[in-house]
Amino acid sequence: MSNAATATLKSIATDHHIDTGVKQRDRKALANKLAEALSDSYLLYLQTQNVHWNVVGPLFYSIHEMTEKQYLDMAEAIDDIAERIRAIGFRAPGTVSEFLKLTEMTEDATTTEANQMIEMLVRGNELCAKRLRKAVIEAERVDDVKTADLLTERIGQHEENAWMLRSLNA
Ligand SMILES: [Fe+2]
Repeated sequence: MSNAATATLKSIATDHHIDTGVKQRDRKALANKLAEALSDSYLLYLQTQNVHWNVVGPLFYSIHEMTEKQYLDMAEAIDDIAERIRAIGFRAPGTVSEFLKLTEMTEDATTTEANQMIEMLVRGNELCAKRLRKAVIEAERVDDVKTADLLTERIGQHEENAWMLRSLNA
């Protein structure tokens, strides 16, 4: 990579001078938590689409419709989370390799049974909610109410998704 290219990347990745009442060090820790939330959400988004496309069986239409609603909501949330990272002064991860390093979601291409696919999405939504809860604690600790608000809203949505999916398998 040329020196010029390195300099350009650095200027993008470097923290900007931001003074909205949250310390630089705290914003950095929070940006890392947001990056984890972004990566989990991205993987769950893809997993939800996988089910939307490939599920078969008597519940096909319900699952197909429900997963579409859920992934469309996640697409918006992914954008909001990434833009929040930018607003607090850091670079948002935007490559699959970065997401795979940061996420705790696991990929599962072997599941083809509808009830197992639902189970996989329930677990994915639960994992997202669990990790988001830790991120909210961090956001509240440093008084970043806006980030705490955004992440809290996401916890509620993943809990609702898990409930709706779980109800299909009852
Ligand atoms: Fe579709």
